[in-house]
Amino acid sequence: MKRVRFIFSIATLLPFVAGAQARPLYKDKNAPIEKRIDDLLKRMTLEEKILQTNQWTYGKNANINNIEASKKAVRPEIGSLIYRSTNPVFRNDIMRKAMEESRLGIPILMGFDVIHGYRTIFPIPLAQACSWNPSLVRQACAIAAKESKLSGVDWTFSPMVDVARDARWGRVAEGYGEDPYTNAIFAVAAVKGYQGEKLSDPYSIAACLKHYIGYSLSEGGRDYHYADVSPQTLWETFIPPYQAGVEAGAATLMSAFNDISGIPASANHYTLTEILKQRWKHNGFVVSDWGSIDNLIAQGYAADRKDAALKSFTAGVEMDMVDNVYVENLQQLIKENKISMDKLDDAVRRILRVKFMLGLFDKPYVEELPEKDRYYQPKGLAVAAKLAEESMVLLKNNNHTLPLSSAIKHIALVGPMVKDSVNLMGSWEGQGTPESVETLYEGFEKEFKNKVVLHYAKGCDFDGTDQSGFSEAIAAAQQSDVIIVCIGEMKKWSGENASRSTIALPSIQEQLVSALKKTGKPIALVLSNGRPVELGSLDSLSDAILEIWQPGIAGGSPLAGIVSGRLNPSGKLAITFPLSTGQIPTYYNMRQSARPKLGGYQDIATEPKYWFGHGLSYTTFSYAPARLSDTVLRKNKQLVAEVEVTNTGTVDGKETALWYIADPVASVTRPMKELKYFEKQDLKAGEKKVFRFVIDPVRDLSFPDANGFRHLESGDFYILINDQKLKFRLID
Ligand code: BGC
Repeated sequence: MKRVRFIFSIATLLPFVAGAQARPLYKDKNAPIEKRIDDLLKRMTLEEKILQTNQWTYGKNANINNIEASKKAVRPEIGSLIYRSTNPVFRNDIMRKAMEESRLGIPILMGFDVIHGYRTIFPIPLAQACSWNPSLVRQACAIAAKESKLSGVDWTFSPMVDVARDARWGRVAEGYGEDPYTNAIFAVAAVKGYQGEKLSDPYSIAACLKHYIGYSLSEGGRDYHYADVSPQTLWETFIPPYQAGVEAGAATLMSAFNDISGIPASANHYTLTEILKQRWKHNGFVVSDWGSIDNLIAQGYAADRKDAALKSFTAGVEMDMVDNVYVENLQQLIKENKISMDKLDDAVRRILRVKFMLGLFDKPYVEELPEKDRYYQPKGLAVAAKLAEESMVLLKNNNHTLPLSSAIKHIALVGPMVKDSVNLMGSWEGQGTPESVETLYEGFEKEFKNKVVLHYAKGCDFDGTDQSGFSEAIAAAQQSDVIIVCIGEMKKWSGENASRSTIALPSIQEQLVSALKKTGKPIALVLSNGRPVELGSLDSLSDAILEIWQPGIAGGSPLAGIVSGRLNPSGKLAITFPLSTGQIPTYYNMRQSARPKLGGYQDIATEPKYWFGHGLSYTTFSYAPARLSDTVLRKNKQLVAEVEVTNTGTVDGKETALWYIADPVASVTRPMKELKYFEKQDLKAGEKKVFRFVIDPVRDLSFPDANGFRHLESGDFYILINDQKLKFRLID
């Protein structure tokens, strides 16, 4: 009896003993993440750890042979892959290699540039900011995340939150404009959109704030160049969007290509470790930009690849994008005691943490749905159209040229952008395809079907000197009551490595508009571009100007809806349009000059063409006198500013109230005004609504010093709204 019981007990225990061996702690989805990482790190060899710091890419294009050939070469132990396929089956195959063919079964993090959409391409980020609608941007990012995840992507290299004030720099298209606060708000919206409530949610992907930091300051607007920034400006202008994004939970950051005042961003211990990891306690990881570790050699900061690996790794870049510098050198650097095991473990821990948080260990494979169930879902298309609509900015509208009167029966649609389906997507178009783009022409056809005759002529190319299409354009104009000219930039003119010495459009486009002007017909100019442009004579040649940016795949209908009056434009500029390239940099939050009335340009006006915040509507809004809850504010209290706005026109509209603070005297000089809050509301014709800004002194009235420590100084302040300026006093 006893014996039988003994045998029975062993038999009962066996599955548990075997289970304990087969199921290590790091594979237990119920164990705390940090414990799982501890367990996994203990099991990893040095080589396996180093491979986690390595990001690979395969193929240089979408050529299927190229992808397949390289897939075989992908080692199952790598930390991350730049994943360019759209096929979830392909992704799962690679992932299976990692899970089943590697010793420990660590999932590979699949990264891709999902910048403004995956297949459903939304307007470029610069346009998105002009919508002043962060909730719409969050929805767009969530849709992009879902389409990406369903195609196999776990991680996007977005959002770019580099405050940009030099429009010669092509990457101005990828960020949220010239203002730190605006960039911070949209950074948070994008991070929350991509990452969802939890990273482990089925359709969440990890975000990556880039390019940390100072990249937009590349001298002369030339990409990859030296960037000089004072610690003061770094803290007050460039850091806030990153800090906001980190506080919103961004899992990763990307270090930039540029040299920041002598210490390259990809080897900058101060920004990567002291600020990011020590002060902000960021617990995700930093990936280098493409080749930016090796670039330290060209920049004169590293002697060779080994030195580059040492400098970048010790500064705080945990993952090496594509360079293979870490794989080649970390082992030797550890052997020579130049890098400690603890440092390597910390880097690997950060990378593993993101993988655990994404749930990749527990659910490494993605659903394998057919394309029709992954892309272009009705909700995504609706958000794309809404965001395109809200990001369009009516810059000028003389004599109510727009919307077109219902008496108009013939419209000339002229210009190289009218039937274009490539350039409307803008740079970094993810996996967008021209076939999915609704052209401007198609939008007009739908809008004006059976009501108006459209007379199309291309007129000219985007560039060059060929005027042979002008006569056809003039003929189309002569048959019409109004001319809509759709011109602008090709998508390759902005984005990475796309700097321009002038932000004016090529003169052929101006010549076309000039020729059309001679017909005497009213001209509504529609601009599609990835940066603010110098308008030159285009401004005076046009009766109305509508900036549609690069609206993505669903821009045609919103444009046509605005032209017909079915929609009312509500975008406002998130970046100033200089009068000429020579005015760069000109931005609204400049500091006051020593001689405010002097120092202007002798040859041109000093005022830009259209300021940050400019944007017209088909209705009018009147602002009642704003009220403050008090004129004296204690540092530990709040102040409420309110203004009642009335839609005084005859059509419904949307108004964005931009609240600025001015601090006229401080121990560190302050910009003339700084945006601190904005709010967008719908107002029906005749309707009144109150816009409210609750001022929190620490958040809204303090400023950082050159070390990033905030100061709150008593004294007079102003709050600015529309054209009003109200004074209040901050006391202890
Ligand atoms: C760009 C990054 C991008 C990366 C990966 C780099 O050249 O600067 O913004 O995320 O490539 O494609």
